[in-house]
Amino acid sequence: MAQENTLTITDNRTHKSYAIPIEHETIRAMDLRQIKTKPDDLGMMTYDPAFMNTASCRSSITFIDGDRGILRYRGYPIEVLAEHCTFLEVAYLLIFGNLPTETELKKWVGEVTHHTMLHETTKKFMEGFRHNAHPMGMLVSTLAALSTIYPEAKNIHDPANRLHQIIRLIAKIPSIAAMTYRHSLGFPYVYPDNDLGYAENFMNMLWKMVEPKYLANPVLARALDILFILHADHEQNCSASTMRAVGSAHTDPFLTTAAAAAALAGPLHGGANEEVLKMLDEIGSKDNVSAYIKKIKDGHGKLMGFGHRVYKNYDPRAKIIKWTAEQVFEVTGRNTKLDIALELERIALEDEYFIKRKLYPNVDFYSGIIYQAMGFKPEMFTVLFAIPRTAGWLAQWQEMLTDPEHKIARPRQVWTGPEVREFVPLAKRAAVAATR
Ligand code: SDX
Repeated sequence: MAQENTLTITDNRTHKSYAIPIEHETIRAMDLRQIKTKPDDLGMMTYDPAFMNTASCRSSITFIDGDRGILRYRGYPIEVLAEHCTFLEVAYLLIFGNLPTETELKKWVGEVTHHTMLHETTKKFMEGFRHNAHPMGMLVSTLAALSTIYPEAKNIHDPANRLHQIIRLIAKIPSIAAMTYRHSLGFPYVYPDNDLGYAENFMNMLWKMVEPKYLANPVLARALDILFILHADHEQNCSASTMRAVGSAHTDPFLTTAAAAAALAGPLHGGANEEVLKMLDEIGSKDNVSAYIKKIKDGHGKLMGFGHRVYKNYDPRAKIIKWTAEQVFEVTGRNTKLDIALELERIALEDEYFIKRKLYPNVDFYSGIIYQAMGFKPEMFTVLFAIPRTAGWLAQWQEMLTDPEHKIARPRQVWTGPEVREFVPLAKRAAVAATR
């Protein structure tokens, strides 16, 4: 009788059976290595391009149930955190695993606030970019450059040093982001103002002109803080997986975060919010929505901001962002693109093509509309995604480093190339090629 909690696999080539232990509804891929046809075989592997069905780690940071549209950070539903917390409170939760007490939060906010300044050399680095450089290219490069300013960041096994770098990165990412924006406009950089909260200070560094003190609109500041909370982490997405893979080589957290930000820049990942705005501009008006959807169904492109690898139901973040949009438009005036987006969503959610493929609006579908209404250019949208996601990346990075099972990430491959080939000297290759 087979043991409980095992998978019995019978190899019909050898008629041998194997009892593979089941843990957390998974089997260890390494337990398949015993399945061989010859003693000197490497043994069985799994083949899972894009890791569609592979758990790369054990984590207690973010839980997603894609079928039920559930998202929780450290067990707290995203809806509760978005309603009751500030972004820095949520960043603390992601990094330390619990919501902070008042004393802990005050200390944490103080530490982050006092690390928002950038080394003056960053200005010289920023000046090297052309005026029309994409902000994500500037952000990724500058993040990597900060590793040269903080060489001690390499001491990743020292918990106190690790936390110091985590605080630096969470504190400085808005400063870098604001610098990319000011550089693109040819405006002087604005220094952080320690009297302001995280979102307000970001707005100050973006938009302060000659007034003595920047005053952030409280509705817009709160909307930005909520958007930061919604974008803070999302389990083993492409950029978090990149953070873990690069971090597993024991690379310093600045270079590692730069790698994760590079992954986020992709149009299928964090770059989608910018692509949504381009799509809405291309559609132009509500009347053109049906024709555009037909184009997508005919296989010409994707509905940007729709679909998700995990959510096969409505992305819970999209619901909150839709609500936040109404608050923002009270202040900024209604963004006409919202009507196109709402019509796009209405038609798509009734259409068999999208229903069959379980395609719903994701986090990127409405966020860009809000950002544009707030005055951001589309090129800045993914930068706005990277700011809060830095806290999530660092939580994932730290969890990986402190996992006793962690090793350098090094997947295997299925070989599809030729067997050993005879070398042909250069002089004879043309003759050989002619016979092919
Ligand atoms: C983020 O992982 C995360 O958690 C990411 C993220 C996070 O917080 O970190 O949530 C942030 O990246 C959100 C996703 C933003 N990207 C976009 O909005 C770009 C548009 N979406 C798609 O490219 C796509 O939906 C993905 C990349 C998000 C997910 O793709 P999958 O899981 O690989 O699904 P798939 O490409 O295999 O699609 C399955 C089917 C295919 O059709 P068939 O070949 O079966 O006929 O659905 C179709 C796809 O063509 N499809 C779409 C579509 N997305 C998938 N068709 C039209 N429009 C779309 N958006």
